[in-house]
Amino acid sequence: MEQNELKQLVGNEAVKYVEDGMIVGLGSGSTVRYMVDALGKRVADEGLHITAVATSNFTANQAQSLGITVKDIDEIDQIDLTIDGADEISDDFQGIKGGGAAHLWEKIVAINSKKNMWIVDESKLVHQLGAFPLPLEVIPFGSTHVLAKLEQMGYHPSFRKDDNQQYVLTDEKNYIIDLHLGTIDDPFALAKVLNGIVGVVEHGLFLNVVDTVIVGTQNGPKALN
Ligand code: 5RP
Repeated sequence: MEQNELKQLVGNEAVKYVEDGMIVGLGSGSTVRYMVDALGKRVADEGLHITAVATSNFTANQAQSLGITVKDIDEIDQIDLTIDGADEISDDFQGIKGGGAAHLWEKIVAINSKKNMWIVDESKLVHQLGAFPLPLEVIPFGSTHVLAKLEQMGYHPSFRKDDNQQYVLTDEKNYIIDLHLGTIDDPFALAKVLNGIVGVVEHGLFLNVVDTVIVGTQNGPKALN
């Protein structure tokens, strides 16, 4: 199976955990896209009754187009289960997210969820975090100064730009700065430093967030707890 087939496999597997009446958090990214398709199919075929909270405008639009009821996070009390993708997951279940520039809303949804599940193909499993550039969502105002500070700190930052060299904008109209770290020895210490930088809205380290990881392997989906 190639990577997209593994993504579809875990997307199909994850929706088996969704029960009637649940409030479900929907992540973002290409793996989640398959999962939302599979969820829409359950809603249409089985009459599954759920309410969804989306972590990006893209996911909200996809879910609505499939007949899934989507509510704003501020309209609901707590999410039962959030299913999201990830860019890296370490041996001790810490993660990097934000490859799709959605980690701010993803983190807000995750911390307001009773359970969090990540769905990934096996290429996302790593021993140590850091090979994947760590995304920061930053306020545009003063962002060149934030970049300079991060450079001084030795974090090798770069603004994320699209193919036309335009700044990538998040759904909150913020910029993304990616940190090219190589390895992250102590994600908790790094998170503390990043949380203290004025202008950084949120970083893509998701620490002690996930409960279950579904990995797509050549032998089928595997649940890790
Ligand atoms: C978006 C994310 C995604 O979940 C992450 O980038 C994984 O994406 P994909 O499933 O496309 O590999 O964090 O901000």
